[in-house]
Amino acid sequence: MAHDPSSHSTHSTSSTNSPFDSQKSIPHVKHIIAVSSGKGGVGKSTVATNLALALGKKNKVGLLDADIYGPSIPRMLGALNQKPTANEHNKLKPIIRYGIKLMSIGFLVEESSAIVWRGPMLFKAIDQFLNDVLWDELDYLVVDLPPGTGDVQLSLAQKVLVSGVVTVCTPQNIALIDTKKSVDMWTRMGVKILGMVENMSYMKSPTGEKIQLFPKGDLDSYLDSKRITKLGEIPFNPSVSLGSEAGVPVVESQPQSAEAEVFFAIAEQIRTALPV
Ligand SMILES: Nc1ncnc2c1ncn2[C@@H]1O[C@H](COP(=O)(O)OP(=O)(O)OP(=O)(O)O)[C@@H](O)[C@H]1O
Ligand SMILES: [Mg+2]
Repeated sequence: MAHDPSSHSTHSTSSTNSPFDSQKSIPHVKHIIAVSSGKGGVGKSTVATNLALALGKKNKVGLLDADIYGPSIPRMLGALNQKPTANEHNKLKPIIRYGIKLMSIGFLVEESSAIVWRGPMLFKAIDQFLNDVLWDELDYLVVDLPPGTGDVQLSLAQKVLVSGVVTVCTPQNIALIDTKKSVDMWTRMGVKILGMVENMSYMKSPTGEKIQLFPKGDLDSYLDSKRITKLGEIPFNPSVSLGSEAGVPVVESQPQSAEAEVFFAIAEQIRTALPV
């Protein structure tokens, strides 16, 4: 029977045959944070990597790339040719970069090979990444999601208790339409929205003026109406994309930059919202 997510709450004690009944926490992982957006290309992976690195300065952090069809984490963290090994119990050892633990399907297949799977295979892969990886003790496991409101989001919410969602949006209304759907999905699944990161908010001209790359839409009034905190505004800056291309995200390559400062400030808000 189809499950109606609108009837679900992660705090529910009902014992009906809901697919959400199999939710388990991962031993020794204190908080799972999903980085999500309805729309592709708005900067989820950029936010997930830099947020994980910023949290990693004070906490034990893992970063799970749940974008099975389009993994970005190995390249963004300069770990393209790394191959995880398994222990005697067939548990995968995560790759470690800049002090954080990483896992991605991108470590297990060639970068140019496509994964062509139906939903049940995705579900199994997400399950294994959560439960068959030696995450050990983590304060935060940051999960980089693919765009949309599909199988991966549902698999994650059904398998584990997600402490909260960081949603990512760019300023224009075209992006907001999809963001609203994503926020609606998480809310209906009973998962808390920790806040919104507005990415590519503006660009600074060489003389310091703010240039609006994307037209400013109704994002702020939407956030007000839903009482969602804006965690930060990240400017568009080629140093952000260059850092990701080169495998040294801006929080590592230019920790004093205005962009990195925003990521550090977001990390502080997450620490306050989800204390360890
Ligand atoms: N603030 C920024 N300034 C400059 N470039 C940025 C910024 N944020 C993201 N980018 C660049 O935009 C592109 C898309 O970002 P990213 O891959 O993080 O988006 P995504 O939402 O994860 O995409 P997908 O939906 O495909 O997973 C990347 O090349 C990234 O480096
Ligand atoms: Mg991505």
